[in-house]
Amino acid sequence: MTRDEARQAAQLAFAASGEEIGLGDAGALPMPIEQLLTLDETHPDVVEAHTGGLTGFVYRLRTPTGDWNIKRARSASLVQNPDGQTSFLNEVQRRCELEALGDDCPPGVVRTRYASFRKGLIVSPWIDGEIARRWDERTLSSLFDLLVDLYLRGFFEWDVSPGNVVDDGSRLWMFDFGYMYRFDPRVDFNSNGLDALLFHPAERFETRNYFAVLLEREKAAGQGAALKDFVLEKQIALAAYERLVSGLRAMGATHTVIGLFTAIIARWTRALREDPAALYLAEGWRSHRLDLDDDLRGQTCTRRTLARTDWLIEAVSEHFVALKALDAFFWHDAGLSREALLAQLADDRASAVRWQIAT
Ligand SMILES: Nc1ncnc2c1ncn2[C@@H]1O[C@H](COP(=O)(O)OP(=O)(O)OP(=O)(O)O)[C@@H](O)[C@H]1O
Ligand SMILES: [Mg+2]
Repeated sequence: MTRDEARQAAQLAFAASGEEIGLGDAGALPMPIEQLLTLDETHPDVVEAHTGGLTGFVYRLRTPTGDWNIKRARSASLVQNPDGQTSFLNEVQRRCELEALGDDCPPGVVRTRYASFRKGLIVSPWIDGEIARRWDERTLSSLFDLLVDLYLRGFFEWDVSPGNVVDDGSRLWMFDFGYMYRFDPRVDFNSNGLDALLFHPAERFETRNYFAVLLEREKAAGQGAALKDFVLEKQIALAAYERLVSGLRAMGATHTVIGLFTAIIARWTRALREDPAALYLAEGWRSHRLDLDDDLRGQTCTRRTLARTDWLIEAVSEHFVALKALDAFFWHDAGLSREALLAQLADDRASAVRWQIAT
């Protein structure tokens, strides 16, 4: 049984047990709990509603004590896999653990006023800001600080997608913990232990978020402009990973874990000096390929999934030899010929067309 399977089994057993998990005082909410449990966009004090989410409905409730985020679980998640089915429970678990950190809870992690798994309700302050879309030195540094802070405390965030990161103008915030899993940073590389070495914080951001931005940038302003943005992000990620390694050393992490990060740092440093375009190609392949796989597995494909697939098809058509030399192919793609890869991607594209969800 993998770690993921063990976690899923424990979460499904917990859900079936009828046991409750949560935090906070139902008597100290911005509105009586009965009203919060039936809140929807027809309420006059709901000034914003996000009802297109896959796991919950999110309402921005205006009250004399400020704006609140009222998140209510869907009766069944729209994501057709065990992680999706347990994501609300997972979010309540993470919020309990993050709140338990008290003053050690990283800046940029939203606080939780109240959470109840059985009631399907989470209440937290509304962050006054916008989805982070402008990636510059400030926003990238802020996000990487947050990801590294979480990592060093044993929280691995898998879904660093645009809808899960808000910018308040001075720092970035995270508030959706549906796919944040625990691990021990002293011995594990991520929440899969040492079994899935492709995945780490910068990779998560690049895969779920930044390479989609770079894809748009390539289209709008050309490859040179996208490469420049990529280099900025890598420089900031590099500084963050140096802090990450110091943190790991300070907590006595194993040579294995530290070695994995110092190898990443060495690879990036060398590529930034010698051939950033090659690193762009390799990381772009990895990110677009992984994101395509995620979307296919969750059967949650969008137009962007198709754009990513087209990027991959073009990359194989034009840069197969370079990608091979960079050792960029992984999993079922490793060892495939150019023709076999193109056939595989054509199949994936057809699936992505079939599994388009309404957005
Ligand atoms: N505390 C908050 N402050 C500001 N905006 C928020 C906050 N919480 C949620 N939002 C907004 O609501 C949206 C949905 O929130 P959230 O990601 O928690 O819900 P979700 O159901 O998990 O969505 P999905 O399944 O699509 O990730 C976010 O994309 C963001 O725009
Ligand atoms: Mg979300």
